[in-house]
Amino acid sequence: MPGKFVLAFAAAAVFSAAAAAQGEHQRRLAAELTVMAGDVRRMASGAEPALHREGLQARLAGALSSLPLLLRRANGDASAVPALRVALERHDWRALGAALETLKRKHPLDLAGLLPQKATPERLRLGEAIHRQACAGCHDAPVQETKLPAFNLFVQAGSMPRAEFAARLLIGVRGDRSTAWRNPFSDLELGALMAYYEKGNK
Ligand code: HEC
Repeated sequence: MPGKFVLAFAAAAVFSAAAAAQGEHQRRLAAELTVMAGDVRRMASGAEPALHREGLQARLAGALSSLPLLLRRANGDASAVPALRVALERHDWRALGAALETLKRKHPLDLAGLLPQKATPERLRLGEAIHRQACAGCHDAPVQETKLPAFNLFVQAGSMPRAEFAARLLIGVRGDRSTAWRNPFSDLELGALMAYYEKGNK
């Protein structure tokens, strides 16, 4: 019953949004902006295969449609969004990237609660346990021939700025509706995953 599941998911998201402190809205917005800017960079690089470009464009369009709400919740100004939409329609990655950077400066991602100062053995063990149980099945040997593939998370962690990977974790884990894992993970759990992926699967 996927429809029902998505509804339950949406209700949970609305509930937790209502219950959450202001800080949670700010962080969600900042993480979305960071992921969007990263996706625009991938589009601009020209290195993505056509199928992935299609998926990224669809994801950017989806992110743009929820951006006004995220901005309002975080007391931000949604007046910049129509210009972003025009830039996306025109595939003007430079303009879209620049506008997102401006928004990112206004809504910076604060990762203090998420990034552990030190990857202690306990944290790494927790990260490994969560990964093995909940993530490895899809992410360790991912199928690439789809519009939005799951990537190898160790490779991803090593191939982009730390803040961007953290933002992708914040959004990406939440974005997977097929797992039914409690959502989102606590900062402790996300921090443990982060430490585990950064260490590398060696
Ligand atoms: C049922 C398969 C599945 C499971 C289980 C799963 N993922 Fe994913 N994940 C995906 C797919 C498919 C995508 C790509 C979809 C997308 O980017 O919207 C994705 C996207 C992501 C992204 C975003 C990547 C990006 O480019 O922005 C992150 C980060 C991520 N997953 C982390 C995790 C972690 C951590 C876990 C375990 C807690 C997990 N996933 C469990 C399938 C899965």
